[in-house]
Amino acid sequence: MKAKISANKDFLVGDIDNRIYGSFIEHLGRAVYGGIYEPEHPTADECGFRRDVIDLVKELNVPIVRYPGGNFVSGYNWEDGIGDKAKRPRRMEQAWFSLETNEVGIDEFQEWAKRANTEVMMAVNLGTRGPDEARNCVEYCNSSTDTHYANLRRANGFEKPFGIKVWCLGNEMDGDWQIGKKTAEEYGRIAHETAKVMKWVDPSIELVACGSSSQNMSTFGEWELTVLDHTYDDIDYLSLHCYYANYDNDTPAFLAKAEEMDRFVKGAVAFCDAIKAKKHSKKTINLSFDEWNVWTQDGAWENQKTPWQKAPRLLEQKYTFEDALLIGCMLMVLQNNCDRVKMGCLAQLVNVIAPIFTENGGPAWVQTIFYPFMFASNFGRGRVLQAKLECNTYDNKGEAIPYIMNSIIDNGKGELIVYAVNRSLEDDIELELAISGYDGITAVEHIELYSDDIKAVNTKDNCAIKPANVPLKDKIILKKHSWNMVRLQYK
Ligand code: AHR
Repeated sequence: MKAKISANKDFLVGDIDNRIYGSFIEHLGRAVYGGIYEPEHPTADECGFRRDVIDLVKELNVPIVRYPGGNFVSGYNWEDGIGDKAKRPRRMEQAWFSLETNEVGIDEFQEWAKRANTEVMMAVNLGTRGPDEARNCVEYCNSSTDTHYANLRRANGFEKPFGIKVWCLGNEMDGDWQIGKKTAEEYGRIAHETAKVMKWVDPSIELVACGSSSQNMSTFGEWELTVLDHTYDDIDYLSLHCYYANYDNDTPAFLAKAEEMDRFVKGAVAFCDAIKAKKHSKKTINLSFDEWNVWTQDGAWENQKTPWQKAPRLLEQKYTFEDALLIGCMLMVLQNNCDRVKMGCLAQLVNVIAPIFTENGGPAWVQTIFYPFMFASNFGRGRVLQAKLECNTYDNKGEAIPYIMNSIIDNGKGELIVYAVNRSLEDDIELELAISGYDGITAVEHIELYSDDIKAVNTKDNCAIKPANVPLKDKIILKKHSWNMVRLQYK
């Protein structure tokens, strides 16, 4: 099979906001306890953070990490996680039926973020709490005033404010599973009032309002329009969440989920712009895709035989090679919509549906999905070119899906980065690149992720799926079911 991608230097989608390569740490399972934090671990630093995990997070080059949830945040008292650890309460945590010891809270997490070269995206509880606790949390984290919560932070040993810029107004508030679920009307009102007082404490913060929990919610659309009607002037971003799985063991259909994600983005943009027009507003609301991943949901947390355990093994998905292919495609959806998607969080980062996996007291290693993310985050920064693809398609329930999914990024440092996934399970594809407006383009590197076995996984003893260098020839060949990154230099 053959395919052709045409692009021109002057035809751009837009500039990438590096925060599309963000991730997420929730107080869930072993993400915090046994993941980023394990004081007894041989690699632990003086704060109890696992250095081996920090090193892998640094390899991913994650610019922002959402915290502390997720569903967890909707029952969380942020004050439980500050100050003297000996005095912190142990709680029945109802999002995941776990024991929360509060050994880690915002005091510790902001310190971890510094050590991992990243920033915190903080979520506030709009499930069981509201504007008062949210504004106090902003004051604690960001204020230099001589007032109660800023002084409490100083008393806890932090003279300098944490300077957290991005704040989420609750989490998935339309979901029945959420502690304190709300109607769109109820959420819109509380989000508006909360946003107002948070920005009165610190006008420089950016706020994210909850969109629908997924594009499959029956209220998708109505929810967005109602919430945006209430909050349009207060917020900066609308959130999107999506998780895909190969429940039917139909790989071509699974890999076509990227098209679904793209439709989700376009739909959310349309809802934002509809309210913009309705309000005669000059302001544009952009998108924060602050949870996305492959996740095979098994309801394990609802069926825990012994609830209220500390750091139970929950959502510890083992990622296959085909999962890595879809993750590669989903990253391209974020890149190709960079004019409106300004933040993204791969959910999550360690142990819980995550690219990094650990054993308690043992090693940390990388799952298959680590690699497409690492190569996107490290190389895919700059400006995205509009790409015209000519390629055969396959049928997915009446929709024509091009075998190739691709993106092209000009990194502004003399390189074009081409990402491409070949979704054909049978055929290699010879790819022609016709990129105009640049002088002297030459390929300098072709990295490939490939396995004969699309169900292969990495384990602590065997990193079966890892990238390989493809020798450069005059033709670019995208192997059947492979992920590829081709780096081209120009003068
Ligand atoms: O990431 C796991 C969970 O998925 C989050 O807590 C929730 O927001 C979503 O439903």
